[in-house]
Amino acid sequence: MDPVKVGILGLGTVGGGTVNVLQRNAEEIARRAGRGIVVTHAAARDLNKPRICSTDGIIITADPKEVVEDPEIAIVIELIGGDTLARDLVMRAIENGKHVVTANKALIAKHGNEIFAAAQAKGVIVAFEAAVAGGIPIIKAIREGLAGNQIEWLAGIINGTGNFILTEMRDKGRDFDDVLKEAQELGYAEADPEFDVEGIDAAHKLTILASIAFGIPLQFEKAFTEGITKITREDVTYAEELGYRIKHLGITRRTDKGIELRVHPTLIPERRLIANVDGVMNAVLVQGDAVGPTLYYGAGAGAEPTASAVVADVVDVVRVLTSDPENRVPHLAFQPDSLSDLPILKMEDVETAYYLRMQVKDEPGVLANVTRILGDKGISIEAIIQKEPQGGSAEASVIMLTHTVLEKQMNEAIQQIESLDTISGEVTRIRMESLEAS
Ligand code: NDP
Ligand code: HSE
Repeated sequence: MDPVKVGILGLGTVGGGTVNVLQRNAEEIARRAGRGIVVTHAAARDLNKPRICSTDGIIITADPKEVVEDPEIAIVIELIGGDTLARDLVMRAIENGKHVVTANKALIAKHGNEIFAAAQAKGVIVAFEAAVAGGIPIIKAIREGLAGNQIEWLAGIINGTGNFILTEMRDKGRDFDDVLKEAQELGYAEADPEFDVEGIDAAHKLTILASIAFGIPLQFEKAFTEGITKITREDVTYAEELGYRIKHLGITRRTDKGIELRVHPTLIPERRLIANVDGVMNAVLVQGDAVGPTLYYGAGAGAEPTASAVVADVVDVVRVLTSDPENRVPHLAFQPDSLSDLPILKMEDVETAYYLRMQVKDEPGVLANVTRILGDKGISIEAIIQKEPQGGSAEASVIMLTHTVLEKQMNEAIQQIESLDTISGEVTRIRMESLEAS
């Protein structure tokens, strides 16, 4: 049988890595797919830029439309990024009856509902394993491996750049901007690195995971997002004194009232495996009712780890090229006419525990006022430590861990605490999760 011809949009970090993996492992890949897979057409912006891959035998164009219009191409791999041009190209490829593989989480999280509907109508596949957690086959694991379960919740470190920054800052005392620059040089960061550090990229990925875990439409606009830029060295140190690590987590949970969908820095007990996932590595902890907790770990970004997921999707597509579209695995795990309308909860309706840090005047009665406010809001304290004033300052740091409470109650309590004249500045609040198997 003739090899399947593939077109690639984008020859940067992931595009270059994908060409390398397809070329280096061509023989093994053909044995798995049942046919050879060759890249014949690719698009990049700058035709003179040096590439990390060989482009021998590939027609390179600066006009990506030429690739999606090429009648020889059966599969288009979208690795340009962004959600405007990429959306148009993917929709056009679908219209032309081509299967699509993408690593673009922004595209899927924001336009996936429309894209999958178009793909279903046309009988083509849109595969997106590489869009979440780099090389970890987490989409396949949840969509197929855990198909017998009711997924109760999942929590993940799903941004490699953010985890790399937090790890380097904690272990080597490095400066935030300096580590971010290195992550960009290593090809981990998004074109706009704000997406990494402000949690937007993780929210894109979490939106996708929530859909395939719970069978709900993609609803990125309802995700709660808080980044890592406000995490201070002292919070990292105090958390460790209390037996916790601070990780930037994406958490989604099914509750009686709706679905939690949130990304924020989170204190987690240091004994949890996921608390020890460092550097660019990602991990996703999934709790299913039948299987219990399962943990998936691997590189969350980078050329070849991501290419591993892209190529696996291409192999999957080639394997089913001739199968009846009705008998394929649904894009979002659940049949399109069986999606649930469970609402996404507002953050103020989410229950979680908290780490609080505040600067207090070092005088009698201050703590009593704070604990009274918390008590009035039904918030009970699990641990409290006071750090004596340093270097002649008249202020001490008070750190508290609370039990679980509604975010709305905590917002009100923090507002009242901040209005006390014995408290200076803002109260630092970091959410806390035990991540215990239920
Ligand atoms: P890069 O910036 O390294 O690559 C983007 C590629 O697209 C470049 O080759 C660029 O051309 C090309 N391109 C951009 N605009 C155009 C255009 N208008 N016409 C033609 N070509 C264009 O990005 P990445 O490889 O890092 O990321 C690609 C996608 O993969 C993104 O969606 C990203 O979120 C996702 N992703 C990235 C991961 C990573 O570790 N980097 C991991 C998982 C997903 P040129 O090279 O000439 O500038
Ligand atoms: N910028 C992303 C990250 C790439 O650092 O996780 C992988 O999706």
